[in-house]
Amino acid sequence: MSNSKAIKKAVLPVAGLGTRFLPASKAIPKEMLPIVDTPLVEFAVREAVEAGIEEIIFITSHTKRPIEDHFKRNQELETQLLSSDKKDYLDRINLKEYEGVKFSFIRQRDQKGLGDAVLQASHLINPDEYFAILLADDLFDGTPGITSQLLSAFESHQRSIIAINEVTDEETKKYGVIDGEIISENLTMIKEIVEKPQSNPPSNLAVTGRYLLKGSILESLKTIKPGFGNEIQLTDAISMLLKEDEVFGLKYKAEKFDCGSREGFIKANIHFARKQKIII
Ligand code: G1P
Repeated sequence: MSNSKAIKKAVLPVAGLGTRFLPASKAIPKEMLPIVDTPLVEFAVREAVEAGIEEIIFITSHTKRPIEDHFKRNQELETQLLSSDKKDYLDRINLKEYEGVKFSFIRQRDQKGLGDAVLQASHLINPDEYFAILLADDLFDGTPGITSQLLSAFESHQRSIIAINEVTDEETKKYGVIDGEIISENLTMIKEIVEKPQSNPPSNLAVTGRYLLKGSILESLKTIKPGFGNEIQLTDAISMLLKEDEVFGLKYKAEKFDCGSREGFIKANIHFARKQKIII
């Protein structure tokens, strides 16, 4: 059996307020806004499932109920589609790929940052178990998906590994930024990681929203103090992990859309609409 099969769980933090998408995100979670006809969050879920993940753990808030509903069956709609000769649509709401996949929902009490969101899943993940984190705002078009690409690299190294990409000097302020030793064309052994450096970034290699991390990171998350933006930062816990273990950065092969911004969200819609030949 391939070792990558040992990664079965993915955490998807989806509790954010989505203020940049107001008023659209006032009554609808921004993760449910569609890219053509598919909610943004579903792209990350499909990518995880494609990579063999069997349990998706959403970290939600009380305003994110539609996400829970979306990943549950809707018997009433299914019955109507079946009886009204619209059976083709059934496949759209009942993806066969989801058979056997468990969806768990945990509500985050306060918005204390990405690290705090991930920490909410600590009772579901063992310290020596590797797990995935997917930030749905980062949408990728790549084959195989980024999580599968990370898993392939994990198979060789059996260490925590995060997706990275090159950004401009100006953009380093917006991301976790790493520095390290180049191992091969796409792989870097991380030596340093800083959350949103406002000056003197260690490099132009930014962290994107896909991680495979050792479960012990959850212990670090319990102890770290608030960092950038006065929030509990996942980046700071990864920095602690670096002291005891190797962590790799993988330059992925895919087109990225930053759907946390309106510009990226519109670009993603145009890209996927063209791909599906809805527009030329
Ligand atoms: C988070 C992480 C950051 C990472 C980014 C990728 O930031 O904290 O290190 O580079 O995701 O999208 P956020 O965009 O949630 O502020």
